[in-house]
Amino acid sequence: MGKNLLKLSDLSTDEIIAILDRAQMFCAGVDVPVLSDKIACNMFFESSTRTQYSFNVAELRLGMRVVSFNPGSSSMNKNESFYDTVKCFDSFGPDAIVIRHVQNEYYNELLGHINAALLNGGDGTGNHPTQSLLDLLTIKQEFGRFEGLKCVIAGDISHSRVAHTNYEVMRRLGMEVVTAGPEEFLEKSLEQEDFDHAVKTSDIVMMLRVQHERHAEHMKLTKEEYHQAYGLTVEREKTMKDKAIIMHPAPVNRDVELADCLMECPRARIFKQMQNGVFVRMAALERAVK
Ligand code: NCD
Repeated sequence: MGKNLLKLSDLSTDEIIAILDRAQMFCAGVDVPVLSDKIACNMFFESSTRTQYSFNVAELRLGMRVVSFNPGSSSMNKNESFYDTVKCFDSFGPDAIVIRHVQNEYYNELLGHINAALLNGGDGTGNHPTQSLLDLLTIKQEFGRFEGLKCVIAGDISHSRVAHTNYEVMRRLGMEVVTAGPEEFLEKSLEQEDFDHAVKTSDIVMMLRVQHERHAEHMKLTKEEYHQAYGLTVEREKTMKDKAIIMHPAPVNRDVELADCLMECPRARIFKQMQNGVFVRMAALERAVK
């Protein structure tokens, strides 16, 4: 049976580095396998642009055959459960199933009940392993190392599976990681720092989207107030270190967490991250099915 990829905390640092090295080979166009005998099913129960379609492109680049599930036109409209829906797809005999779902740790009820390798495309506010891998690849390409780098993750930390996944893995790789943002979005267990100070001293400024869809109540601040207090404004960007970069998992709320004109500025690696998403997902898929 192939290898699941559910959360990065299940993987040793050696395994993580091996996936990144393989992804870098795919980035260079080297040693791409042809997995035309393998079938992947993409099952996105929660909205997605980057993760869903870069998994799709990664599968195509590996020569895999792909089935994409559309919850809106499925028998979930006849009250079929998540479990029965995934079990149904697994019965078709795919080699890998990629799932995104709004429920944290949705995969627990599937483990031991499906034969395909399971790749997590994001579970609620929990984990987003392939996003962190593409973030790490982008950092590695930029700085050639992890040890000793400082990253501030800023914004809606508590609702962000990207923040949770990155905080753990970046620290394990020897990075200094701090969080910043409105009090209502921070978590006591994660180290916090004054945002302005963090922007000035970090090598990576990672901005997060305000996840309105996961909020029980409306955010207290207006978009403009948020931008001035917690966003990467044009003025704050000027205080960043010479070689420091801007990252964001996207989608971006322009002029809320990030000034519109910074999205494609020389420091921004946001579209680079998307490009790297294809390569890390190729590496994760190869690892899962071989
Ligand atoms: C993130 C996600 O869905 O967790 N996006 C992504 O996968 N690139 C972040 C977000 O939605 O804000």
